[in-house]
Amino acid sequence: MKTLAIETSCDDTSIWIVNFDWTSFTVDKLLAYSQVREHNEFGGVVPEIASRLHSEKIIAVLTEIWRENIKNVDFISVTTHPGLPWSLVVWETVANLLWEYFNKKVIKINHIVWHVLALLLERNVNEIEFPMMVLTASGGHNNIYYIRKNMEWLPVSQDIKQWPFTLTKIGQTLDDAAGECFDKVSRMLGWPYPWGLRISQQAALWHPNKEFELHRIWLDNDKFEFSFSGTKAQMNQIIRKQEEKVWRTENIFSEDEIHDIAYEFQESVVEILAKKLIRAAIKYDVKTIWLSGGVSANDRLKEVILELLDNEVRLKNQIHEFGTAGQLWNFKPKLFTPIKKVYCTDNAAMIWVAGILSN
Ligand code: KG4
Ligand code: ZN
Repeated sequence: MKTLAIETSCDDTSIWIVNFDWTSFTVDKLLAYSQVREHNEFGGVVPEIASRLHSEKIIAVLTEIWRENIKNVDFISVTTHPGLPWSLVVWETVANLLWEYFNKKVIKINHIVWHVLALLLERNVNEIEFPMMVLTASGGHNNIYYIRKNMEWLPVSQDIKQWPFTLTKIGQTLDDAAGECFDKVSRMLGWPYPWGLRISQQAALWHPNKEFELHRIWLDNDKFEFSFSGTKAQMNQIIRKQEEKVWRTENIFSEDEIHDIAYEFQESVVEILAKKLIRAAIKYDVKTIWLSGGVSANDRLKEVILELLDNEVRLKNQIHEFGTAGQLWNFKPKLFTPIKKVYCTDNAAMIWVAGILSN
């Protein structure tokens, strides 16, 4: 089963052809135009420029795909929401045209659902155990979903009448999303795009030394809500204080200080994401933990999750050992992240997974 997926929700015009052979989803073609360079000049995504560039580039991208390849797909998948309204109209126009011209059905997919399903790309879908807990941490969203399956896992037959699993949102951010916070802090430090990645690159150069300390905002321990605007405000204060100290507004930190500040900021965000995700995974006793969205490209986030998981398991098993009764605690969910970094961020491949599953 093949689909042609179109993604134009933000600043990437991407079109993919994805194939599902009833065991795994593979990428046949991947074509994209990234608008990073154009938006970078303005320090952020400018909606008007985004929609104009989508309209301009989508035809070139489609032409590259070739008419024959389009003719051979079974249907078209698109992300409909959330996203920039004037960018989303572009897919709508193009998908409707293809529908008319090639007589292909158009399947509409929620952008966040496709972030979740991007994990299925290039994996044998039968290897994934349910139930699972998913963190989608991106520039625009920051949610935790509990997913259970509705039926025996794919591929049961080629006749999928029912969406194969149910997603329940159990947590979300009350203000900024984690990726948004990475972006804003990176911009406060005067860095160019790609903001989030730049912070993790600087943090990776850190040598043990802690001059800066950020207070972690945990909120209610029993809930799975997040708040990152306070972290952003603390960073703003640190920057303002430093400007006063050095009497200038540019290059206010030394190289070591930059590494230190980036590290502490990254730690403060990933610790919160990781702890809440693991707490949710324990509460719902899941077999799998999934990470998705742009922030899942952050290696330190994966590291902290694995460290915390190990600690939890060791601690629980010690309690069992020294307690009077009971078996060893066998909670040890597997952690899955997208196979390639390109599958973490916005791309059309995620949509095709969802398109195929809901066709
Ligand atoms: O999923 P995505 O491409 O777009 C949205 O749906 O928002 O995610 C983009 C977000 C940006 O906020 C970006 O800063 C963040 O993902 N991001 C990172 C890293 N790479 C991308 N955040 C932290 N560490 C990274 N290495
Ligand atoms: Zn996204």
